[in-house]
Amino acid sequence: SYINFNSDSVKNFVADHELDEIQPLVSLAHEQLENRSGAGADFTDWVTLPTDTKQADLDRFKAAAQQIQSDSDVLVVIGIGGSYLGAKMAIDFLNPMFNNELAKEQRKGVKVYFAGNSMSSAYLTDLIRTIGDQDFSVNIISKSGTTTEPAVSFRVFKELLEKKYGKEGAKKRIYATTDGQRGALHNEAEEAGYETFVIPDGVGGRFSVLTPVGLLPIAASGADIDSLMQGARDSEREYDNEDLKKNDAYRYAALRRILYDKGYTSELLTNWEPSMQYLSEWWKQLMGESEGKNQKGIYPTSANYSTDLHSLGQYIQEGRRDLFETVVKLDNPIVDMPLPTEEGNNDGLHYLEGKTIDEVNTKAFQGVVLAHVDGGVPNLAVHLPKQDEYTLGYLIYFFEKAVAISGYLFAVNPFNQPGVEAYKTAMFALLGKPGYEEETKEYSKSLGK
Ligand code: PA5
Repeated sequence: SYINFNSDSVKNFVADHELDEIQPLVSLAHEQLENRSGAGADFTDWVTLPTDTKQADLDRFKAAAQQIQSDSDVLVVIGIGGSYLGAKMAIDFLNPMFNNELAKEQRKGVKVYFAGNSMSSAYLTDLIRTIGDQDFSVNIISKSGTTTEPAVSFRVFKELLEKKYGKEGAKKRIYATTDGQRGALHNEAEEAGYETFVIPDGVGGRFSVLTPVGLLPIAASGADIDSLMQGARDSEREYDNEDLKKNDAYRYAALRRILYDKGYTSELLTNWEPSMQYLSEWWKQLMGESEGKNQKGIYPTSANYSTDLHSLGQYIQEGRRDLFETVVKLDNPIVDMPLPTEEGNNDGLHYLEGKTIDEVNTKAFQGVVLAHVDGGVPNLAVHLPKQDEYTLGYLIYFFEKAVAISGYLFAVNPFNQPGVEAYKTAMFALLGKPGYEEETKEYSKSLGK
């Protein structure tokens, strides 16, 4: 397949016959997903989303992105969880590292800042200061349209827009991405007349990066969403085979499950590029929310290399042996750099002269795999040929397909997230939200008030 999934380093931990033995379960999971007969089937429209998405939809997202680029220097993207992580991952991966600090001529699109993914007043204050007198637009993204964090930030930025551009001017700079029928944001957008983008019903938050949730901000950053979707479409075709010997996404799902049964209950997603840090954040939500229920599931965590080898490295090498690792390795960096030559050898780096920085990075990657496997950490690797839109689209769908199969192998509904409601109930009760009177009494008692 276009991205290369390598499980050679897991041979010491998983025998070939174990994969043969899990094949019938994988076939069943495949059938449940294909026939929409499994748990959560109403939320499986993402399976054919790449091929179902029409060019006219993509063109509409691109037109809005162009409008934003023509009247704004900055786009503030307001959302949390599945309404934020996909865009953040893609914008970081597809643009230069310090994109928001570059001059306009050096950027492909607008600067993108995120808000509504915390309730920090300091963050909001600093972001407002950073925007300063630059022209800006807002993309508020919330499927339910009622999530507190983005709603709070939206109020702040709406007020700012209205002060700066007047009510009418502000309206033209607000883009709302939400449900097509219901929710506070849907109602507000309709009443105010914001340009609105619909999140399809059958696509849950963590599977929504290839809908306007991700595509509008990604396009506004100047990245090529046609190519992103082409990668996802090709990936949809590639990972369609129930045979795990021919389907890398299914082999990945099966190996994860076999490792979990052997006591490897945490998976560490690692990368060797700082621009891929949010790939892990997106993946953590995808995996954790899909599998972590009914008191089971692999705990998804991450590390950024080589940075974290100097912090978490000790634990990974010698700590409790319940970790396995999946490395997403970019095989060809967007740009490479020779190590500068120097007279003498005072810094002890003479032996590296003639090599590029990426050659050193890649040797470090190979060395770490060897060391971690020796230390008892099963290693899987996903190799990316390029750092571009097509490759990212391909990778997104690879992980989505894998987690769906993996969830069914765990006999859970991979497409719901009942557990994320618990904190909200407690928070609403403490804030005195109407409708939570009983809980307010109960929680206030627990807090001794
Ligand atoms: O996956 C999920 O359901 C959550 O992470 C949501 O994406 C997150 O809570 C944001 O929800 P909403 O888009 O409804 O504001």
